[in-house]
Amino acid sequence: MSEHAQTDADETAATSEKLVELAKRRGYFFQSSGAYGGVGGFYTFGPQGASLKGNVEDAWRDRFAVAEGNMEIDAPTIMPEPVFEASGHLDGFDDMLIECPECGASSRADHLVEDNTEYEDAESLPIPEVEEVIAEYELVCPECGAGLADVAVEAFNLMFATNIGPGDSDPGYLRPETAQGIFVEFPRLKEYARNQLPFGVTQIGRAYRNEISPRRSIIRTREFTQAELEYFVDPEEDEPDLERVADVEVTLYPASEQNSEDGSEIETTIGDAVSEGIICDEWVAYFLGVAKPWYDSVGVDMDRFRFRQHLSGERAHYAADCWDAESEIDGNWIEMAGFAYRGDYDLSKHEEYSDDRFTIFKQYDEPKTVERATVDPDMSYLGPEFGGDAQAVVSELEALAARDRAAFEGDTIEIALEGETHDIPVEKTGFAVEEQTEAGEHITPHVVEPSFGVDRLVYTVLHHAYREDEVSGEERTYLELEPEVAPTFVGVFPLQSDDELVAHAEEIVANLRDAGLSVTYDDSGNIGRRYRRQDEVGTPFCVTVDYETVEETETTVTVRERDTTDQKRLSVDALAETLSAIRAGEMAFEEL
Ligand code: GAP
Repeated sequence: MSEHAQTDADETAATSEKLVELAKRRGYFFQSSGAYGGVGGFYTFGPQGASLKGNVEDAWRDRFAVAEGNMEIDAPTIMPEPVFEASGHLDGFDDMLIECPECGASSRADHLVEDNTEYEDAESLPIPEVEEVIAEYELVCPECGAGLADVAVEAFNLMFATNIGPGDSDPGYLRPETAQGIFVEFPRLKEYARNQLPFGVTQIGRAYRNEISPRRSIIRTREFTQAELEYFVDPEEDEPDLERVADVEVTLYPASEQNSEDGSEIETTIGDAVSEGIICDEWVAYFLGVAKPWYDSVGVDMDRFRFRQHLSGERAHYAADCWDAESEIDGNWIEMAGFAYRGDYDLSKHEEYSDDRFTIFKQYDEPKTVERATVDPDMSYLGPEFGGDAQAVVSELEALAARDRAAFEGDTIEIALEGETHDIPVEKTGFAVEEQTEAGEHITPHVVEPSFGVDRLVYTVLHHAYREDEVSGEERTYLELEPEVAPTFVGVFPLQSDDELVAHAEEIVANLRDAGLSVTYDDSGNIGRRYRRQDEVGTPFCVTVDYETVEETETTVTVRERDTTDQKRLSVDALAETLSAIRAGEMAFEEL
């Protein structure tokens, strides 16, 4: 039996506005601190949204931590300044800010250029060029219309600053990416991995960026959730098991196609993309192959999904190559995740700036005998000659011996110290080449990083699930959410607020909750309105307890499926088991 009378409405119409309204009305998400006028870039997930987001995070954890055998950690969101000096965020994590001289409104200069000229990737242009474009096109302030032609564009650091403890002697920052919480703990994490590469560490948590112009609801916010995996590999030896993902079909938009006038997306498989050199790094390819079916499983529409390679000017300061997972939203592509090859950038920087070791000892299969150039300087010469700088000279000599033993072939050796050069007699350096037996070497692992934005994914899942149709002559809006992520799996209603029906319904609710299903109980309004409420929040099934239920000897209830609105009568005794099997994907409603 079905009340469904019309095919689904055209999904590609601009649904964002309607979705944002539904999200607020039904408790998915809304702007925070509304009682105080609201604050740009901060959103609260309501009861439905928090549950959907939690389900998406659990699904991510199952796939990227548990199924891949990776560890998960939970690090603080505030970290001390030296961490971000080392990571490069203090110097390099900037957006282009332009401030209107008339009304004081702040805008992102690159967005202004992209929105009002034919430039598509203004973020990768240097600031002077962006200033020139603004002048050439006579761009104006989006708030008050004042001309911005002669206004300077500034680099604005996106990190939120704070002080750790009283006073300002110990500055700290809210982390702009969860990744740094993993990198700084590498010296301990490698112990938990028994010093064996490759290994992965995941983290799901908040990140903070003081965006100049937060926009499009939860797509660009100032506080958001990331789910990141930092996968540490030996670049010389470790290879992914590409066979596991070789047949995964993907839509790719490589940089070469973006740069070409008639370039287009390429339909291929992960295996072919690697063998044809479209995706150069096998680890990045592996994680794209894992991510694609996972995005499908949580409800991203695969006809509105692609992987796009970053153009060279677009890559973050740490990335050697990067592909984004993008979803199409009302005709625009948005970035949901980045898959970056970070090389040894992060670990090398933390090794350089901290007092700890960010390398891993790689044991050889058999000990190797190698020639090593060493120095054993004569301190009775260096001491009087260089005073307090003598130790720095020793370090220079050690480094030189390791990298250029030919430099020690003459009578003197030249070293530079604080901009000055000094000649040192080779005989005073104790230079020697010795044979040494070594069991292994210290290497700096490389990092491959799948970095997912949870909020943008939640937005995409809702947007791609948004449907409008007509049921029994009435317009209906519903969310075709995957059962795995839907906030509520089943709604239970007594047909009327009759004591006997209510008692039965409450017992069913208790049984379904005991079976681990997420259940909502609703006895207000007519049954049609209750169905519509659940449709709008995307509840896959509704169970109605009616008079047949209480009169029959074998008690049955009506179970209604959300998308088709088909209804079937099922035995109460088998209800929990049947619905659990449907949720686990072991059974389909239409087979009942
Ligand atoms: N650790 C790498 C990293 O942070 P990113 O591309 O800057 O890379 C990863 O961020 C993901 O985080 C993005 O793909 C996006 O989904 C999400 N994200 C970044 N900035 C965001 C913002 N202001 N609001 C919401 N999500 C954001």
